[in-house]
Parts: sequence; structure tokens; C-alpha cells
Amino acid sequence: MSAAILNIADECMRREGLRVMKRIGLKIAILAIVASAVPAWAGESGSASIRNCTWCHGTSGQGYMVAPRLAGQRPQYIAEQLRSLREHTRDNPFSRQYMWGAVAALGPREARDLAIYFAALHPKAANDGNRDLADRGRTIYLEGIPEANIVSCYACHGPNAEGVRGIPRLGGLAYFYLKGRLEQWGEGYHSERDSPMPMVATHLGPDEIEALASYLSFVK
Ligand code: HEC
Ligand code: HEC
Repeated sequence: MSAAILNIADECMRREGLRVMKRIGLKIAILAIVASAVPAWAGESGSASIRNCTWCHGTSGQGYMVAPRLAGQRPQYIAEQLRSLREHTRDNPFSRQYMWGAVAALGPREARDLAIYFAALHPKAANDGNRDLADRGRTIYLEGIPEANIVSCYACHGPNAEGVRGIPRLGGLAYFYLKGRLEQWGEGYHSERDSPMPMVATHLGPDEIEALASYLSFVK
């Protein structure tokens, strides 16, 4: 829990640029976050309690079955996806089936509070890909395959697949989730209007998708 709290503070500092804040100030900031978050979760709509999410997304948001890990995900990305899911822009099958209903009554403030909460939880790697494909996946991740028009992922998702600002962390997400997302963009499903991902994914074949999803599932 203390690690989670430090992560909240860390994220908070990065977001607000309050780099000079000392430890004592952090504690106050943490209390402020907790205090401002509670009324929203206990608010009248009552739909946004953490348990409504962890019921599917697993204990501490670590992911469960088809619901992806939320722990450690970029807060801007989580908030943006919640908006896309609410507006039905993100229209792939599991999103329709599970998430459209789950966020139907979620206001922007609750969405933001939940995004900050889940982003601050420590992520654990799923480690469920094919180990034999991980090296190849790593090479594609870092270098792309220029002759096949496959771009490197590294430039946008970061050297260790940790994400940056609104670009999601990929490291340690579950193999089947990553594979599904990469396949679905190639099949014409979309999540963001101006997302580069449908274009990126169109060039990936089944072998590249398996290798990338395997590699990423092991990244800590
Ligand atoms: C009934 C089960 C269910 C519930 C309840 C649920 N989710 Fe989900 N959620 C899913 C599934 C399944 C997906 C994966 C959709 C896909 O494959 O694209 C998902 C996807 C997401 C994503 C996209 C993650 C990513 O990496 O792109 C976010 C963010 C999310 N859920 C947040 C929440 C929050 C916050 C709540 C609580 C308000 C919640 N979910 C409640 C099942 C659920
Ligand atoms: C030009 C920048 C850019 C490049 C290059 C890029 N991505 Fe992305 N990626 C994004 C953005 C922005 C999003 C979030 C928008 C969205 O989901 O549509 C995203 C989302 C994703 C997601 C969804 C994660 C989740 O939690 O659902 C996956 C998986 C992904 N990218 C994999 C890759 C892989 C693999 C590569 C390399 C082959 C790659 N990306 C290259 C910008 C990029």
C-alpha cells in the first residue's frame, strides 16, 4: 500500500510539476487526493465504486480473464479509454459486451478519480506468453521490420513499454489481451479517432502479433 501511495504522489508530482515538494508536502497531497476522491465514489450515482471495476478487472486491478490489467496504466490513457467506451468509439467485441454497460453512468470526474486510483497501483507482469518467441518480439518492438512496413513500437510506447502521457503501458499486459487488440485493429475496430494503431496493426501478420504479445507479457 505504501508503494501505491508513493506512486500516487509521484504521478501527482509529475502531472503538476511540483518537483520541489518535500515528504511532508507529499503526505498532505495524498490526503487531498483521497479526500477529494471519496465523495465521488460514494456519490449519488454510486456506480463508480472501485469494487464495480475490480469485480471484473481482478484484485488490485491486476486483470482477470478477458478484463485487462489496469494497475500501473497511464492515468490519461485510462481516462481517455473510459470516454471512448462511454461514447462507443471503442467498439471491439469485449468492449461492447462488458464495458459499454459498466461505464454508462460514469461521469468525467468519477472516471478521472478511478484513472488516478488504478494508475497508482503497482503492476505485475502477466508472464503468460510464449518464451520462445520473446526475443523475436523484442527485436520487432525495438526496431520494427522496415522492409515489411512495420514500425518500431519503442518510439511511442517507450524503451521498456512503460508508456508516456496518453500512450499506454504495454509491458506485462496479458498475452491474449494484447493479441486480441492487435488483431482487432487489423480487422477494422477502432478505439480512438486519430489513433495510429489501426495503421500500425494493419501491417502486422499473425507471427509478428504472437511474438510481440509474448515479449510484452514478460516485460516488468
Ligand atoms: C463486466 C466486467 C467489467 C466491468 C464491471 C468493468 N470492466 Fe473494464 N473491461 C472489461 C473487459 C472485458 C475489457 C476489455 C475490452 C477489450 O477487450 O477491448 C475492459 C477494458 C477496460 C479498459 C481498457 C483498458 C485498456 O488497457 O485499454 C478500461 C480503462 C477499463 N476497462 C476500466 C474499467 C473501470 C474503471 C471499471 C469500473 C467503473 C470497469 N472497467 C468495469 C470488463 C469489465
Ligand atoms: C505513433 C505512435 C505509436 C506507435 C509507433 C505504436 N503505438 Fe501502440 N498506441 C499508440 C497510442 C496513441 C495508443 C492509444 C490509442 C488507442 O488505443 O487507439 C496505442 C495503443 C496500443 C495498444 C493498446 C493497449 C491497451 O491497453 O489496450 C497496444 C496493444 C499497442 N498500442 C501496441 C503497439 C505495438 C505492438 C506497436 C509496434 C508494432 C505500437 N503499438 C506502435 C501509439 C503508438
